[in-house]
Amino acid sequence: MMHAQVRRPPATAAGFATRAIHAGQAFEPTTGAVIPPVYQTSTFVQEHVGGLRGGYEYARGTNPTRDALQELIASLEGGRHGLSFASGLAAEDAVLRGLLAPGQHLLMANDVYGGTHRLADRILARWGVGLSTVEMSDVDAVRAAIRPETRMLWLETPSNPLMKITDIAAVAELGRDRDLVVVVDNTFASPALQTPLALGADVVVHSATKYLGGHSDVLGGLVATGDDEIAEQVGFLQFAAGAVSAPWEAFLTIRGIKTLALRMERHSDNAEAVVRALVDHPAVERVYYPGLPDHPGHAVASRQMRRFGGMVSLALRGGAAAARGFAEATSVFQLAESLGGVESLVNYPAEMTHASVRGTELEVPDDVIRLSVGIEDEADLVADVLQALERLSA
Ligand SMILES: Cc1ncc(COP(=O)(O)O)c(C=O)c1O
Repeated sequence: MMHAQVRRPPATAAGFATRAIHAGQAFEPTTGAVIPPVYQTSTFVQEHVGGLRGGYEYARGTNPTRDALQELIASLEGGRHGLSFASGLAAEDAVLRGLLAPGQHLLMANDVYGGTHRLADRILARWGVGLSTVEMSDVDAVRAAIRPETRMLWLETPSNPLMKITDIAAVAELGRDRDLVVVVDNTFASPALQTPLALGADVVVHSATKYLGGHSDVLGGLVATGDDEIAEQVGFLQFAAGAVSAPWEAFLTIRGIKTLALRMERHSDNAEAVVRALVDHPAVERVYYPGLPDHPGHAVASRQMRRFGGMVSLALRGGAAAARGFAEATSVFQLAESLGGVESLVNYPAEMTHASVRGTELEVPDDVIRLSVGIEDEADLVADVLQALERLSA
């Protein structure tokens, strides 16, 4: 695909924070505007029939603002190709429908975002794609669950909401041996903390709505891959089905990504502080955080993640009533779905983000709370969770 403006290729040797600010972001050549413009246009003038300027024809196919974001995510994930969509689920849908055919089987982790499971279970299955779930952190279980018609392995690590850790390199190796496409949803870690393609995965997907956008003001989805054929197939779905990101959304996502490296450090610092406050608290049954030495995935997470991120889940001794009570008792942590923004959020998965998987193998225990730890002052966040726990016992 051609670009309308000359972009300096991102220096592949450049560090992550440098690429987050510069990849796909060359200044605008006519005026020197440091920030490339938002190309808020649906179509492009042709010099004569078929005489495209810089390859641009119609914005469902290509748009320079979207191209810039696609180049950026490809660079950050260490892939050759990036594709940008209207939401995380739109990105997932393009990957699933672009790469799977009726009669094939998808093997999915048993702890994924509820909407991801719903998409495969309620939409894809109707078109003849088989689905089963497995404990993806157990490579032997994954091996045993692969069927002759299995074509794809789909995992999240850390997973939503139970923070399970999957050994990406081990699953990727298994996928290579069996000629399967291995897809990693990297939403929770972001490429600042973990780069699955470097560990052998074929495709990375993101809800860019979360850490990449980073400010809870944009809905978006991204795909990155190093495989030309996969990019071609998913890219065709992007064009032919049309769930592309709009220019303004692409711009907001690019702007968010510029501070990703800094934000992920602060999210991780704050999450660690909140975890320290929670682990020994008498009202807390269990804390799910891969940074804890007794987390079953700690060793793998330490190998494949640079830090452990801003997501923390906890189970409360008082069960469902306590979990609900906690979710409604915080004040800095606002009760809302979603995650990954600068502001802290609290979510009750059983009835909010994961209500769609109630009654399935993915059902989330009703004593679990999920925290998206933001980048506010650490002391305020710790004080907020402690006062909420205090109110439970009052
Ligand atoms: C891990 C994960 N993947 C995918 C999605 C779906 O993304 P979106 O809401 O942008 O469609 C979400 C949304 O919460 C998520 O948490």
